Amino acid sequence: MTTASMITIKDKQFEPFIHHEQIAEKVAALAERLNADYVGRNPILIAILNGAFMFAADLVRHLNFDHEIQFAKFSSYDGMDTTGTVRELIGLSIDIRDREVIIVEDIIDTGTTMYNLLPQLEAKGAKSVEIATLLMKPGKLRVPLNVKYCAMEIPNEFIVGYGLDYDGIGRNYKSIYVVKEA
Ligand code: IMP
Ligand code: MG
Repeated sequence: MTTASMITIKDKQFEPFIHHEQIAEKVAALAERLNADYVGRNPILIAILNGAFMFAADLVRHLNFDHEIQFAKFSSYDGMDTTGTVRELIGLSIDIRDREVIIVEDIIDTGTTMYNLLPQLEAKGAKSVEIATLLMKPGKLRVPLNVKYCAMEIPNEFIVGYGLDYDGIGRNYKSIYVVKEA
């Protein structure tokens, strides 16, 4: 690995971690699992902003069953540590009562965000709720969470790119980079 392929965001250096071609393969494979499971169910995909925008855009291009997609937003993530505060989901302009829901998330870290979201969706009357996440750090999970669809598992390291940010920066990279500890 050459230093030329490293990126710098604010005070941190990041090195290449998951190449965009590998991401594309894993996203396509996850989509195939959804294609097998959701024929005729017309689910609502709820993509969580901001981080999941790129994953959601690539994922839906592989889906071949009828579905609707909504973009919603809630919790903030400050710097490199989870804030622990999870706010209410906002921006959902569709009635999810008796509908099958697939949450589209960028990454599950402690799991707190998804753990708090699930009862909110159940309270709105969803018929079923599953999580489809691009990434998961199983070593950091702090709550019991059933993640049915996960494209890739990664170690407990902070990453950027492909929608994920460090302090607001870095979402634009098509590959994923991992922080290089000094
Ligand atoms: P959790 O509630 O601890 O599972 O945190 C989930 C949220 O934290 C994700 O939706 C991301 O927005 C953010 N997050 C967690 N890990 C990372 C990371 O390595 N890079 C960038 N954002 C992350
Ligand atoms: Mg997120």
